[in-house]
Amino acid sequence: MHQAPVVIVGSGIAGLWTALHAAPLPVVLLAGNSLGGDSSTGWAQGGIAAALGEDDSPALHAEDTVAAGAGLADEAAAWLLAEAAPDEIRALEDLGVSFDRLADGRWALSREAAHSRARVARVGGDRAGQAILDALTAAARATTHIEIREGWFGRGLLQRGNHGCRGVLAQDTSGNRQEIPARASVVATGGLGGLYATTTNPAGNRGQALAWAARLGAFIRDPEFVQFHPTAIDIGRDPAPLATEALRGDGAVLVDRHGRRFMPDFHPDAELAPRDVVARAVHQQVQSGSGAFLDAVGAVGEQFPGRFPTVFDSCMAAGIDPRVQPIPVAPAEHYHMGGVATDSDGFSEIPGLYVIGEAGCTGVHGANRLASNSLLDALVTGGRAARRIRDTESNLHLARGPAEKPEPALSGRPMRELRQAMTRHAGVERSAEGLESLVELIGAMTAEHGPADALVAARFVAAGALLREESRGAHARVDFPGQTAPVTHTELNLERLEQMLPSERRKRGAA
Ligand code: SIN
Repeated sequence: MHQAPVVIVGSGIAGLWTALHAAPLPVVLLAGNSLGGDSSTGWAQGGIAAALGEDDSPALHAEDTVAAGAGLADEAAAWLLAEAAPDEIRALEDLGVSFDRLADGRWALSREAAHSRARVARVGGDRAGQAILDALTAAARATTHIEIREGWFGRGLLQRGNHGCRGVLAQDTSGNRQEIPARASVVATGGLGGLYATTTNPAGNRGQALAWAARLGAFIRDPEFVQFHPTAIDIGRDPAPLATEALRGDGAVLVDRHGRRFMPDFHPDAELAPRDVVARAVHQQVQSGSGAFLDAVGAVGEQFPGRFPTVFDSCMAAGIDPRVQPIPVAPAEHYHMGGVATDSDGFSEIPGLYVIGEAGCTGVHGANRLASNSLLDALVTGGRAARRIRDTESNLHLARGPAEKPEPALSGRPMRELRQAMTRHAGVERSAEGLESLVELIGAMTAEHGPADALVAARFVAAGALLREESRGAHARVDFPGQTAPVTHTELNLERLEQMLPSERRKRGAA
C-alpha cells in the first residue's frame, strides 16, 4: 500500500529533529527558502540547558524551570524536559556537535538568568544554534527517508471532514500551489517576532501556526505570554542582533548613559534577575531617556572576540568595539511562550495535527521561559511527536476534502503598521486602553485586508493580554500590577476570539 508521508513545515531544530526521528516513515519536509535558513535556530547564541555539572541535577533544572514560569509552568512537562536534557545533548554530540569542554574534559557550562547553577551547554562560545543547525541539516541530507523541498513553504492546513487535518497546503517561490496529503502534519514554523517592530526573530516568523491550527478548531494557549529579550543590540537593525545573556552570566553589567549600574535598584539578583524583570528595567531606562548599555569591558574585555564571536562581529559591524565600549541595548521580542495548545507529544487534539517547538505550547514555559530551554523543548517534544506518529498514525484517515486556498498575506505598509502597534500596545508593558485600541485596529485591518495569518495571530495575543487582568511573568499590565489567584491558563479558539471585539466587551459589560 502507498505510504502517506509525514509532512513537516519548517526546517529549524523542531522540524529537523522530528523529521530525523520519524524514520523509517517517509517524510516530506517543507524547508522554506533553504534548509534551516529561515529559522531562528541558527541565531540562538546561549545554547542548551542541561544538568551536566557535578553540582547539578535534573530536579534542580526542573525546579528552576517551574519557578521561572511564574505559577503557570506545567510541572510534569518541566520534569520531562529536565530529565531528557542530558541525553539530548549526547544525541547531538553523536551527530557531530562539538560542545565546549574545559581543559580537563568537563563540560564548559554558562550561567544564565534564573538558573541556580551554571548549566548551559554551549558551542564555540556563542555559536550553539548555528553548530546544531549545521549538524542537523547534514544529517537530514544524508538520510533517505526525508524528501527535502527547498523553495517550498506551508500556506495552510487541509481540513479533514468536520474535524481533523489531512495534510498541508504548500506553495513554492513561484507561487505554484500543491495539496500534500499527510499521515500526520507537523507544524514547526517558530514564533511570532515578525509581528513586532523590534525582534530577534527572522522576519517571516509571524505566528502562522496559530492561524492555521485555529482555523481547524485548535485552541491557542496563553498567547499573551511573549518574552522580550532585555539585551538586543540597539543599532537600528531589523531584526535586531542579540547580546547573549551569557555575557551577564560572565559578569557584564547594565549601565545608564552615565555609566551608573541600574539593575541593583530593580532586583536582588541584579543582572541575573529573571528575564522579564531585566526586560522591564531596560525598557524603563530607555523610555525615561537614561539609556541602557551592556558593559562587558571589565568582565570580558580583550577576550571578547574568542568568547563571544557572534556578538563581537555584530558590534564591530556597527562601529562599536565591545572590548572597550559599552553596547547600546533595548528589549526586543524574542520568544513566544504561548502557542497552539498541545500535550507533551506536541499533539494538538486535532486528529493528525502536531505542533512542535515555539509554535506549540505544551505549557512547560508557563509565563516566562527559562533561558536556553527553547532548543531543548524543540528536541524533547519533536522526538516524542515522532514516536507517537510512528506508533499511532496510520494511512487510514486520508479522506479527500474540498480544494483549499490560502488566506491573503499581509505585507508593506499595513504590516509595518501592525508591527508598530504590537510593540506599542502588546509589548513589554500593556494596558486595557492600549490593548483595546490594538484589537480595534486589527479588526479594521481584517475588514480591509481579509483574515491574513499575521492578523489572526496578532489578535490572539492582543485578546489574551486584554483578558488577563493581572501581571505575571512576561505579561505586565500597568493597570493591574499584582498577581491574581487562582492561576489559570488562557485557552482561546476562533469563536471566543470573535467575541473579544471591544464593542462586544462593552455590550457584555453593560448587559
Ligand atoms: C541568550 O543567549 O541570551 C538567549 C538564550 C535564550 O533565549 O534561551
